[in-house]
Amino acid sequence: MADAQPAPLVTHLRHVALAVPDLAAQRRFLREVWGLTEVADDGDLVFFAAEGSPERYVMRVRRDAAKRMDLVAFGAPDRAAVDALTERLIAANIPLVGEPATLRTLGGGYGVRFFDPDGRVVEVSCDVVDRTHRRIEEREGIPVRISHCVVNSPDPARLRTFYETVLDFRLSDTLWSERMGDLMYFLRCNPQHHSFAIARGPHPSLHHVSFEMRGLDEYLRGTGRALRAGTPLCWGPGRHLAGDNTFSYFHDPHGNTVEFTTALAILDQDHWHPRVHDAENPEIQDQWGTADPFTELIAKGQFNDPDVLFTPPPI
Ligand SMILES: [Fe+2]
Repeated sequence: MADAQPAPLVTHLRHVALAVPDLAAQRRFLREVWGLTEVADDGDLVFFAAEGSPERYVMRVRRDAAKRMDLVAFGAPDRAAVDALTERLIAANIPLVGEPATLRTLGGGYGVRFFDPDGRVVEVSCDVVDRTHRRIEEREGIPVRISHCVVNSPDPARLRTFYETVLDFRLSDTLWSERMGDLMYFLRCNPQHHSFAIARGPHPSLHHVSFEMRGLDEYLRGTGRALRAGTPLCWGPGRHLAGDNTFSYFHDPHGNTVEFTTALAILDQDHWHPRVHDAENPEIQDQWGTADPFTELIAKGQFNDPDVLFTPPPI
């Protein structure tokens, strides 16, 4: 099908913001084990960039007694897109956190925040000032950029419809099992196979945040560094079929899952037809055969704690 659609309102994933009780432990992990760079710190709020990415930051961590995902942020091409999205949200009776406005966070910009149908906070912004970034060198096992964010939802079909119809995401593939039905929807907002995905889970929560490494060697070096630091490995290393990307899933100090990945498929969007992949097939889960077989225990490790819903973060 020729791409006759207007330009999508969402262009890419910008960052994921978390709140955690032990900020010092989270900081140490993200900096020393995960390989992100701290770019700003105001005591209770710390911003982390990926060295290879022009995004001002790819992760924000806030100190709070209650662990939660504060928000997930996507980019929009311009102010007109943010305003058009806001009109769509209002027409769809989606509650806004506030009217579109100048952002008070690092890099500024213009954006709107709202609650998706599960109640998590989503931000869509434009005109955020870029960061001076650099090329990641050969054998340098640190993230080039944020790759994708996956959330758990007890009603993944409803959530998928929302992200498709209101935010212009498109379905790339579905993970399915005969016993459980649809397990994961991979959604794209650009030629990357997925920037966002929705997993079936018992409650709304963060499933995982993924970081793209330069290549296979750098992905394995990052994986090894995390292993040597004693980081709990939940699954991997392996290579998924859907998206063709590699995976090493670890738990951060607060039980959120973070992933090192590389080689995520770039789609020819004009000719791509979404497929349904059987999750029970080990070749689907891991083409290499290096990861443990996917079990219920691994799935549970990615359910995370129930999130705080319909409550905006203080910043
Ligand atoms: Fe992933």
